[in-house]
Amino acid sequence: MDEKTEIKLHELEQTRKEFWNIARESAELIYKYITENNYKNIFEIGTSNGYSTIWLAMAAKQTGGHITSFEFWEKRIVLAEANLEYCSLREYVDIIQGSALDALKNIDKTIPLDFVLIDANKKEYIKYFEQLHPMLRPGAMFVADNVISHKKSVQEFLDAAENHPDYKTYYVEYDGGLLVGEKIK
Ligand SMILES: C[S@@+](CC[C@H](N)C(=O)[O-])C[C@H]1O[C@@H](n2cnc3c(N)ncnc32)[C@H](O)[C@@H]1O
Repeated sequence: MDEKTEIKLHELEQTRKEFWNIARESAELIYKYITENNYKNIFEIGTSNGYSTIWLAMAAKQTGGHITSFEFWEKRIVLAEANLEYCSLREYVDIIQGSALDALKNIDKTIPLDFVLIDANKKEYIKYFEQLHPMLRPGAMFVADNVISHKKSVQEFLDAAENHPDYKTYYVEYDGGLLVGEKIK
């Protein structure tokens, strides 16, 4: 990564509790998943100030991919856009403003999805999953954050994903806990 991006990421890591950003080790793991699997069509549910989006965009730059990120808080979108611009990664990201669930309901589901980071309203994880499932192609992957720290709120999602015959799932015990799902068919 270039020096400006490293400086920006370090700066954002100082305020990560305020902006609910994923942990650096989670971000590095996600970067690895995307680049190693050559994922191109990437979604993010929950942009905040763009910390994780910077990592996704760095990965998309490597694979020739693109990010669609969903966020309803306008002030955070403004910050995310500025942060991506500073890192020269703005061109890799479209930010969709509004309710992620409404946007997902209305999105064209015929375009196969390679990867999604789920990191917005915990109680809605199940609904995001229901909307995203038909879009995820075999070989695709989802990563959901805070599934251990917010276990109660995401329980319905955990049950659905872990018992779904199309997915192989496992936990990564970083920070609030990640559930990783690989779509096997
Ligand atoms: C945990 S933060 C995302 C952090 C970001 N992924 C990162 O690691 O840098 C969750 C974000 O999702 C947004 N959010 C929550 N519910 C949402 C919804 N239903 N639609 C769109 N955005 C939502 C919040 O405003 C918040 O900025």
